[in-house]
Amino acid sequence: MSATTNTTTLISNLGSLVTNDPSRGSGGPLGLVEDAAVVIEGDRIAWVGTAADAPAADTVHDAQGRAAIPGFVDSHSHLVFGGDRTQEFNARMSGRPYEAGGIRTTVAATRAATDEELAANLAKYLREALRQGTTTFETKSGYGLTVEDEARALRLASAQTSEVTYLGAHIVSPEYADDPAGYVDLVTGEMLDACAPYARWIDVFCEKGAFDGDQARAILTAGKAKGLLPRIHANQLSYGPGVQLAVELDAASADHCTHLTDADVDALAHGNTVATLLPGAEFSTRAQWPDARRLLDAGATVALSTDCNPGSSFTSSMPFCIALAVRDMGMTPDEALWSATAGGARALRRQDVGRIAVGARADLALLDAPSHVHLAYRPGVPLVAEVWRDGVRAV
Ligand code: NIG
Ligand code: FE
Repeated sequence: MSATTNTTTLISNLGSLVTNDPSRGSGGPLGLVEDAAVVIEGDRIAWVGTAADAPAADTVHDAQGRAAIPGFVDSHSHLVFGGDRTQEFNARMSGRPYEAGGIRTTVAATRAATDEELAANLAKYLREALRQGTTTFETKSGYGLTVEDEARALRLASAQTSEVTYLGAHIVSPEYADDPAGYVDLVTGEMLDACAPYARWIDVFCEKGAFDGDQARAILTAGKAKGLLPRIHANQLSYGPGVQLAVELDAASADHCTHLTDADVDALAHGNTVATLLPGAEFSTRAQWPDARRLLDAGATVALSTDCNPGSSFTSSMPFCIALAVRDMGMTPDEALWSATAGGARALRRQDVGRIAVGARADLALLDAPSHVHLAYRPGVPLVAEVWRDGVRAV
């Protein structure tokens, strides 16, 4: 396999290539190279430039003029779950509002599932995402809510990705409905001890009906003390303290950011925390769109991600999220593409993905289209024709 040897592959005859390397092309964050070629060595990019200048390689792959982009970095998903929530979706589309409590349905189905069922479900959605160009993804626990079920979810997730997030604080578990403080003690104590070995990140759903600002601070602080890095579900369903807490704790990302005050926007613009927008959730819950334009104009870093989960956003498609962000959130096609690749990498504090540059991972999606703009211009059309991950053709 080329990923474990040093053989070289030249991907020749690319059309327009998004590198996300601003030193390339005619300027701008996307670093566009026309009539491009890329050389892969092992699992890394070894050379990037115009096809006319390309060096020789052990094998040559003709890209037939396809546009290419860095593989999508989906920095927020909830893919360890059992069952689905078709009935809830049906009810919602008939006018019922989305509430955090629907999570309990998936908790029951997840606890009842076997390890094999959960692993197969996870693999199925990862394959689905890969076919749509996602080469890096984060996923979370949060549908177990017991020590054993949360640790199991993270163990299964860690077999598939290094970006694993402990979300024992998704909602208060049904067993602790009358004792939320006791549940916070569990999440910051025995459950954290059992989960930390499998996770890189810790997350809290900071929202009415889930965890308030003080509880979220206690949970994230306990996680940090165990070596986990914080990220937060913040300001999704209502205004609240989540975004400012994220910036205060130097969280890598504040996710959702749908209801923001001027002070929240200001904090994101001046802090080190990425605003991760999840338009699949607003689409599927018929909620107000997050205002990407306001964040970008203020100077915040924006990532786009699917939030793929069976309740609020059952899509694994980054191209779909790009189309929504462009149509309804005030992003340009260039900004949305950057946020779905380099932005996701920032939200995961990763340097090796989200860009096509020497030394980066050889993760690319090739499009049956003349440019990345078609991802928004042609919504719902399966434009991803080839996916290369870790230097190997995966789709
Ligand atoms: O990101 N906001 C909290 N968690 C998920 C929803 C989970 C669910 O509805 O099952 C989200 O939207
Ligand atoms: Fe989420």
